Amino acid sequence: MSRKIRTAASAIDYRELARRRLPPFLFEYIDGGSYAEVTLKRNVADLEAIALRQRVLNDVSTIDLATTLFGQRLALPVGLAPIGLAGMNARRGEVQAARAAEAAGVPFCLSTVSACPLDEVAAGTTKPFWFQLYMIRDRGFMRELLEKARALGCSALVFTVDMPVPGSRYRDYHSGLAGAPGLGGALRRAWQGATHPRWAWDVGLNGRPHQLGNVAPVLGPNTGLEDFFAWMRNNFDPSVSWRDLDFIRQTWDGPLIIKGILDVEDAKAAAAIGADGIVVSNHGGRQLDGVLSSARALPPIADAVRDRLAVLADGGIRSGLDVVRMLALGADAVLLGRAWVYALSAAGQAGVAHVLRQVEAEMRVAMALTGCTDISSIDRSRLANQFPHNGMIE
Ligand code: GLV
Repeated sequence: MSRKIRTAASAIDYRELARRRLPPFLFEYIDGGSYAEVTLKRNVADLEAIALRQRVLNDVSTIDLATTLFGQRLALPVGLAPIGLAGMNARRGEVQAARAAEAAGVPFCLSTVSACPLDEVAAGTTKPFWFQLYMIRDRGFMRELLEKARALGCSALVFTVDMPVPGSRYRDYHSGLAGAPGLGGALRRAWQGATHPRWAWDVGLNGRPHQLGNVAPVLGPNTGLEDFFAWMRNNFDPSVSWRDLDFIRQTWDGPLIIKGILDVEDAKAAAAIGADGIVVSNHGGRQLDGVLSSARALPPIADAVRDRLAVLADGGIRSGLDVVRMLALGADAVLLGRAWVYALSAAGQAGVAHVLRQVEAEMRVAMALTGCTDISSIDRSRLANQFPHNGMIE
């Protein structure tokens, strides 16, 4: 994008501001996907291709965006998705984002591999937030994390199942985040930091400690950022299976959301084990490249399981219009990923708050022009076009 943006009007604008502000090793990590980034592009393109039916003269003077999910009242059917390393993009970034979410009345989900640990986010907020967990080889450590999340009052557990092994993300190798352990990689990243002075001041100098806050206690002298991917490869458990959900259920009795479902059979299995929700997701196009976009995968999954659990979706949502499109395709609520972390990177808490305000305002416009006055009225009947039911490309 060559246009010079000074004032952000959208998540896309914040992307450009974040690109300028962040050291490349951080920007490419949030912006990139796996392999040729086919799924990353499909997520955006397939959602953009969804046409809503414009309806007029329906008295849209009162529009109610609120919804209830897992017994929690949400001001909008939107949450902030868990994002690894988010807190490296702005000073103590996860706390800033969680505060923005709290003020907007939507849930913030803290990643296992966040910079700020659970207790820091709890201390910086007044309402419960969600916690995301991977299956980690050391079950004792996992149990401790779950117990801590419960003791701190986390109001839902998001269990990510689409990363038994990390996908290959070429941009991270090019930028020096991955595959560059030791002094060489550290110097490269330090140079990138030093040549991005606004980030260097905000996070490099004043945003310490730079570590994976939740896992630092078991990393010994390593910070976890030394070779982030080596840590994920070595500590995520590829043997994870549906049976391991019993282990989680024994330690976690709150709402359980399984994130990373893209297939109807897996959605049914999640319902069968008693999950409270799923997130239809391909991990933002960061895992298996070439798989269906979330927009295409969602409708048959929603048809199969929505009567038994809450169906959330993420992937490619950059505006309030996109949120309405996902709801029309069958989601009960959506998670924003890159949209919030671009804004956090460019403008901290105020940026995240701004994106959430924009999403709300854009949802109102989309609902007004489709004749919807509440969330429950946004359904398949609002679509002017649909994908074939199996989600496959024609
Ligand atoms: C972690 O979840 C990642 O996508 O890098």
